Amino acid sequence: MLGGPSITNLLQLFLSALPFGPTGLPDYSTESSSLSTCKAIADAVSSASQVNYPPSDNFVADISHWAESSSIKSTCSVQPGTPEDVAKILKIVASSRTPFAVKGGGHTTNPGFSSTEGVQIAMSRFNTVTVNAADGTVDVGAGLTWDQVYAALDGTGINVVGGRIPGVGVAGLTLGGGYSWKSNQQGLTIDTVKAYELVLPNGTITTVTEADKDLWFGLKGGFNNFGIVTKFTYKSYPQTGTWGGLLQVSFDYADDFNAAVAKYTAETTDEKAALVVTYEGAGTSLALAAFLFYDAPSPPQGLFDNFLAIPSIASTVKRSTFLEFVMTFAAAAGPSGSRAFYNCAPVFEYTPTFLSAAIKEAQFWAERVSRLDPKATMSFSAEPFISTLLTHGAPSPYPPDRSRALLPTSTYTTWKNASLDQFMHDSIVQFTRNLVAIAVAEGQDVGGAAPYPNYAIYDTSLVRMYGENVPRMAAIKKKYDPDNVMGLAGGFKF
Ligand SMILES: Cc1cc2nc3c(=O)[nH]c(=O)nc-3n(C[C@H](O)[C@H](O)[C@H](O)COP(=O)(O)OP(=O)(O)OC[C@H]3O[C@@H](n4cnc5c(N)ncnc54)[C@H](O)[C@@H]3O)c2cc1C
Ligand SMILES: *[C@@H]1O[C@H](CO)[C@@H](O)[C@H](O)[C@H]1NC(C)=O
Ligand SMILES: *[C@@H]1O[C@H](CO)[C@@H](O)[C@H](O)[C@H]1NC(C)=O
Repeated sequence: MLGGPSITNLLQLFLSALPFGPTGLPDYSTESSSLSTCKAIADAVSSASQVNYPPSDNFVADISHWAESSSIKSTCSVQPGTPEDVAKILKIVASSRTPFAVKGGGHTTNPGFSSTEGVQIAMSRFNTVTVNAADGTVDVGAGLTWDQVYAALDGTGINVVGGRIPGVGVAGLTLGGGYSWKSNQQGLTIDTVKAYELVLPNGTITTVTEADKDLWFGLKGGFNNFGIVTKFTYKSYPQTGTWGGLLQVSFDYADDFNAAVAKYTAETTDEKAALVVTYEGAGTSLALAAFLFYDAPSPPQGLFDNFLAIPSIASTVKRSTFLEFVMTFAAAAGPSGSRAFYNCAPVFEYTPTFLSAAIKEAQFWAERVSRLDPKATMSFSAEPFISTLLTHGAPSPYPPDRSRALLPTSTYTTWKNASLDQFMHDSIVQFTRNLVAIAVAEGQDVGGAAPYPNYAIYDTSLVRMYGENVPRMAAIKKKYDPDNVMGLAGGFKF
C-alpha cells in the first residue's frame, strides 16, 4: 500500500534530492566561469592529459554520444590521462562550482547524464586492458567500450562479463548493473567486479574492494554519485568458442515467433544459453529479430529449434569466437545518428498474450509518433534470463530484490526532430507504462518492480529503481561527498 510513513519519507527524500528540471538537465545555470575553469584545468594537469575546445575534432569526439539528443556543447572538454589529473580536475570544478560531466562510452540516452554545458570529462585515455596472471583478474580502463575489451582478450582463453553490443561503455554499464550474454552463468557485471580504482569527490585516489563496506555497496548501481572510477578489476572466466547470431523474421510469423519466445522463457534452464528478441516499430511496420547465443561451439539439440524453424529473412547464426559473435551486431549498434530514449518495463514472464498485446502497443505508438516525424520509431526488447539470474551476487542497491529474476525489458524510441523531445519522452513513458499494465492485467506482480537504471528514463524515481536502499545510498553519498561535488554532474542523484 502506498502512503505509509516510510514510503512518504523516501519520496520526500527523493524529491528534495532531485536536481533535474523538466528537460532532465541539472538545474545549475552555467556560470560564465566555465571558461576560466577550463583554463585552470589546462594549467593544472600533466602532459598525460589534454583540454580541447570547439570546434576541434577532439572536442567533437569528447562530447559526442550514441544518441544525438544526449550530446550537449560544453565549454571545453578534457581527456584526463592519469587518476592524479582526474583528482586535480575534480578539485577545480568543486572549488569553482562548475557543472561537469563524466563520459565513458557515451551510451546513455538521458540528456545531461554524461553531458554538460560546463566541463566535459571524456575518459577515453583510460584505455588499457591487463590480465593479472596470478589471480586471473582483468584490469579494464574506464574509457573503454566492451568490444575493445573483448578484442583485447580475444585468443587468451578468458573473458569477462560485460555488454552485449559493440560501442557500449564499460563504465556506465558496470556502474548501473550490467546484463551480459554470460549473466545466466555469472550474474550481473557488478557481481563480477573485484575492485574499483576511484577518485573520490575530494580528490583522494582510492581502491575500493569488498573490505570497504559502504562504497563497495554504493558502487553496485550508484553510477557517478561517489566520484569518478578510473579502472575496474573483474573476475575472469574461461572462454571457449561460441554459437549464435542475429535472426531476422518477417512479421507474418509473429505468432510462431512469440510462441518460441514464450516457450524458451518458460522452459530454458541452461546457463550457457542467452536470448534477446527485439520488436521494432517504424510507421506501420514492425520488425522481429532474435539475438541467439550459446556459450559453447554448438547448442544442445532442440534449444533454439523453435526459432530456427521459422523462415528467416536473414541470419548470421553460426559458430564463431566470442568477439566475432559480438561484432556481428555492429550494424545493429549504430551510431544511430538519431535522437533516442530508452526506458524499462520490467516483467517476470513473456507469455504469448503479453507479447501479442505488447506488439499492438508498439504498433500503436510507432504509428502515432511517425505521424509527427516520419523517421520516428517505437520498439521494445524482451530479455528472457533464467530464474537463477540474481543468485550470483551479494546484495546491491540495484536490483533491490534478488529473490526472483526480473526480466529488464527495454523500450526504446528514435526520432529526428528536436522539437519533439518532450512529446517522445511522454510517448515512451506511456508506452512503457502500458507494457507493465499488460503484465499486471495477466496476473504478474510487477506494479512495483524495479526498472533497470541503465535503461530507465531520466525522471524515473529512485525509489522505484533502488527500493529500500535509497536512504542508505543517500547516507553513503553524504559521507563521501559532503559538499555535493558530484551534484555538479548530472545523472540519478542520491
Ligand atoms: C545500443 C545499446 C546497447 C546496450 N546494451 C546493453 C547491454 O547489453 N547490457 C546492459 O546492461 N546495458 C546495455 N545498454 C545500456 C547501457 O548499459 C547504458 O547506456 C550505460 O550507461 C552505458 O554506459 P556508457 O559508459 O556507454 O555511458 P555514459 O553515457 O558514458 O555514462 C553513463 C553514466 O555513467 C556515468 N559514468 C561514466 N563513466 C564514469 C566513470 N568513469 N566514473 C563514474 N561515473 C561514470 C556517467 O556520468 C553517466 O551518468 C545498452 C545501451 C545501448 C544504447
Ligand atoms: C518538427 O516538429 C514541430 C512540432 O510538431 C513542427 O512544427 C516542425 O514543422 C517539425 N520540423 C520538421 C523539420 O519536420
Ligand atoms: C577525502 O575523503 C576521504 C573519505 O571520506 C577521507 O578519508 C579523506 O581524509 C579525505 N581527504 C581529504 C584531503 O580531505
